[in-house]
Amino acid sequence: MPSPNTICLSDPQQTLCSLPIHTGSMGPEVIDVQTLYKETGKFTYDPGFNSTASCRSQITFIDGEEGVLLYRGYPIEQLAETSHFLEVCYLLLHGDLPTPEAQKAFEHDITMHTMVHDQLTNFFKGFRRDAHPMAIMVGVVGALSAFYHEALDIRSKADREMAAIRLIAKVPTIAAMCHKYSTGMPFMYPQNQLGYAENFLRMMHATPCDHYAANPVLVQALDRILILHADHEQNASTSTVRVAGSSGANPYACVAAGIACLWGAAHGGANESVLHMLRTIGDSSRIPEFLAKAKDKNDPFRLMGFGHRVYKNFDPRAKLMRKTCHEVLDALDLHDSALFKLAIELEQIALEDEYFNSRKLYPNVDFYSGIVLHALGIPTNMFTALFAMGRTVGWIAHWDEMISDPEHRIARPRQLYTGPGRRNVPGFQPS
Ligand code: SDX
Repeated sequence: MPSPNTICLSDPQQTLCSLPIHTGSMGPEVIDVQTLYKETGKFTYDPGFNSTASCRSQITFIDGEEGVLLYRGYPIEQLAETSHFLEVCYLLLHGDLPTPEAQKAFEHDITMHTMVHDQLTNFFKGFRRDAHPMAIMVGVVGALSAFYHEALDIRSKADREMAAIRLIAKVPTIAAMCHKYSTGMPFMYPQNQLGYAENFLRMMHATPCDHYAANPVLVQALDRILILHADHEQNASTSTVRVAGSSGANPYACVAAGIACLWGAAHGGANESVLHMLRTIGDSSRIPEFLAKAKDKNDPFRLMGFGHRVYKNFDPRAKLMRKTCHEVLDALDLHDSALFKLAIELEQIALEDEYFNSRKLYPNVDFYSGIVLHALGIPTNMFTALFAMGRTVGWIAHWDEMISDPEHRIARPRQLYTGPGRRNVPGFQPS
């Protein structure tokens, strides 16, 4: 009789092995297959990791069927309404909401690290002015480790905390520098008296020649957008950061790897693709034509901003993003925005369509974010850089959790080999 919390794997003739089952605090149980190969000589096979848990984590929980997203147990809807981004950063990094004193100290630490080493500005001169901001971000963020050789001991909690502060503080500065470089305008230094989101908008839009004051509605909208993007359990870019970190790579290199993965159109690059898609559709009369393309298996076109590996219900972030959209467009008197109206119509028609309904394809976080960011005056090619700004805290929180996990080892998946059997090079004569 198998012991409790185990599952027996058998073929028609015999029981191959019994594997332990682990139960988490919420969500599906897992079958621990670590001994499977040793006991059966067989691997598991799960190319998209659809049914694979890569680690234990206490940071973020998603219930895809119910459309639930919790950061350290707190619902995203409550955090988006009551918290602000640096408070959520503290929560994700340390596991609990901060006391007022801890929050004040954390915000001071972030503020004191928003500037970058002045020699870092030289990196930009090597890029073409029309370089995509994500190409620059991958390079410049990855190069940050070159300025902190004395604080890269990943076994040191203090060094890990310092790297987290530096990355959360400097990624917005570097992102704004990417935009300024593309326009030929001078870089703007961060201002210590400004909050995180307001500082970024000023570095993006201000010039040395004029006073700049960000619209408070836009500041609040950007702060909420960063909260919505902060973390999302083991998504592709966070898994990339974890895999890179498993080899002992420094946190700046790991976050640069995460930025590179996020850039893909199937992931964080989707927000930029949504806006291009809406502009290509142009008018609601063409929606049926593009929905047909999205359903056509011979057409590579997909409805960008729709679908999700985990959510088979509404992405709770998409609802909050749509609400933020309304607020920003109203505040800017842009509620007749053709793009927003087209997005609303596209969403309604797609949600009534059997193809999308049967596959449980709903709008995801990227569907509305592009419209809000466009209304905030953010250029389309900067959308994914803003996603990276929000997600940096999630990446570094997971990296720190992995390094601190006694179970962690270098990530080294196996494969199902389908190539040629052993053969000799023509003419080879064994010596
Ligand atoms: C993010 O993982 C995360 O948590 C990511 C993220 C985060 O916060 O980190 O939430 C951020 O990346 C959101 C996703 C942004 N990407 C897009 O909006 C790009 C468009 N979406 C698709 O490419 C797709 O939905 C994915 C990549 C998001 C999910 O791909 P899956 O899970 O591999 O799903 P699939 O490709 O197997 O699709 C299942 C079916 C297929 O049809 P059938 O083979 O069953 O006939 O649904 C179809 C797909 O063709 N399908 C779509 C579609 N998405 C899925 N068809 C048309 N348009 C789409 N958008």
